[in-house]
Amino acid sequence: MKNIAIFASGTGSNATKIVEYVADSEKMKVALIISNKKTAKVLEMAAAHDIPTLVINRSTFYETNHLLEDLKSYQIDFIALAGFLWLVPSYLVKSYPNKIINIHPALLPKYGGKGMYGMNVHHAVRANNEKESGITLHYVNEQYDEGAIIFQASCLVQANETAEEIRNNVLKLEHRYFPSVLAALVLAD
Ligand code: GRF
Repeated sequence: MKNIAIFASGTGSNATKIVEYVADSEKMKVALIISNKKTAKVLEMAAAHDIPTLVINRSTFYETNHLLEDLKSYQIDFIALAGFLWLVPSYLVKSYPNKIINIHPALLPKYGGKGMYGMNVHHAVRANNEKESGITLHYVNEQYDEGAIIFQASCLVQANETAEEIRNNVLKLEHRYFPSVLAALVLAD
């Protein structure tokens, strides 16, 4: 059995899709959900599914490597970032080489980097009159949104679409592809 940890700071709609997708698997499970916000909705979802959770703070995350011990104790093999905004520290990247993936709500390398998250991304896509947007799944390295790209899917952006509508279309792609791409990587690991 491979154990997945999900890092998420927000609503956790992607985390929920992943949990549901692997729920019947005999080969993998979501063994831990980690958040930097103790009020994050994703933690309620975890509790509803009896998944252990951990709330981290900036100083332990960046100034110690205690988290590694926690990940070890849950025998975590693979990490999925699903709406987790903090830069992943080097000790974690090195301990999980090509085993940490992130989902980004745009077609990288466009609209990536520091500050390019959430609605900022979709407002920028709108402002630039892009004809398409989409999702990128990529490995995580020490820079924001710069790890090798694993998978992309795109959607058309109509001239009259609002940033919110773009977000909704992109989120549908996230829900459709993130769980299966993650599961395939975990299986191949
Ligand atoms: C998603 O758009 C994801 O691409 C980004 O953060 C958002 C998380 O949404 N990294 P949710 O918490 O999974 O609903």
